[in-house]
Amino acid sequence: MSNPLILDVLRGATSKRPPFWLMRQAGRYLPEYRELRARSGSFLDLCLAPAKAAEVTLQPIKRFHPDGAILFSDILIIPYGLGQALHFEEGRGPILEPIDNAAGLSRLSLTEHWSRIEATYEAVSRVCEGLPDDVALIGFAGAPWTVATYMVEGESSRDYAKTKQWAYSDPVGFGQLIDLLVEATIRHLKAQIEAGASIVKLFDSWAGVLAPDQFEAWTIKPIRRIVDAVKQSYPNVPIIGFPRGAGVLYRTFAERSGVDAIALDTSVPTDWAARELQSLKPVQGNMDPLALVVGGDAMKSAVARIRKDLSGGPFVFNLGHGVIPITPPEHVEQLAQLLRDSV
Ligand code: CP3
Repeated sequence: MSNPLILDVLRGATSKRPPFWLMRQAGRYLPEYRELRARSGSFLDLCLAPAKAAEVTLQPIKRFHPDGAILFSDILIIPYGLGQALHFEEGRGPILEPIDNAAGLSRLSLTEHWSRIEATYEAVSRVCEGLPDDVALIGFAGAPWTVATYMVEGESSRDYAKTKQWAYSDPVGFGQLIDLLVEATIRHLKAQIEAGASIVKLFDSWAGVLAPDQFEAWTIKPIRRIVDAVKQSYPNVPIIGFPRGAGVLYRTFAERSGVDAIALDTSVPTDWAARELQSLKPVQGNMDPLALVVGGDAMKSAVARIRKDLSGGPFVFNLGHGVIPITPPEHVEQLAQLLRDSV
């Protein structure tokens, strides 16, 4: 069997048909997900039930046959594995017991609670058993900065005020939290690769709120350390970085983070990305998830523009952020069809 196309592209090949997958391709917009979710207890229970998490991961593969499957899990599994209390509230999102100073760090441990999350790796092995040969499994983790915002704020935030205040006022103490997250993330990604993931992705969803010097300290440097460590053990596993909202700092990120490929958010102009980023690394992205909700001509013209700008180099089609719950599954089917047709 030859490699899944997405692997060749992430290693630098150009393909006339862009390989594709979608962030949040498994989830609430799919009736089969809602059905399974309704009889599976909490969202966290579902993430940590290997057979069910594997089944959810495979649901969009059966429907749409994308080139990549992303493990069904969450970036907040790492804080949970470090011992932080976590639950997800319907309609509100994640709730954690906040840690906002160096003293709070003593409640966390890299080893003591890790067995809580090891079901994740069994889910990875089970997905691999059920995956067609031409589809690659993408493992993932949140990048340290983004995960730290949830750990410090205790929930989703608008302004990240507590996290930023800690980072500015006590960079050594905050740096200890980031160091712990670097270690935990290396361990989590390596375990997913050992279990069968052939690509990994780092989600830095809130990278875009950082001032440039803070972006260097809390996004680029920690990611570089993670990439270097994972590459030492697994030099051939492509690592995708997603510094969402980074704007012009996307270029710095491409130059310095060490990742193999760059995931573009919706706001990145694709002609700019072709010149400034794709000349350095493969890129992935970046259709507006709302164009997928609307479908029809809005979606077709978005796809055409993105393909026109990015098909000249290594390019993986994706959205600029996750599929949202109101998305009609038929539109995803139409998108998959469109991407399989030649230009
Ligand atoms: O992409 C995928 O399909 C893989 C699974 C995945 C989930 N979350 C499942 C999920 C991945 C890769 C994530 C990443 C994630 N989680 C991020 C980074 C990407 C991004 O969206 O920016 C972040 C910031 C989180 C944290 C998180 N998880 C929040 C803020 C929420 C609540 C908001 C919401 O959409 O409900 C979650 C819950 C979550 N993670 C759900 C899913 C399918 C919904 C839970 C449910 O089914 O009730």
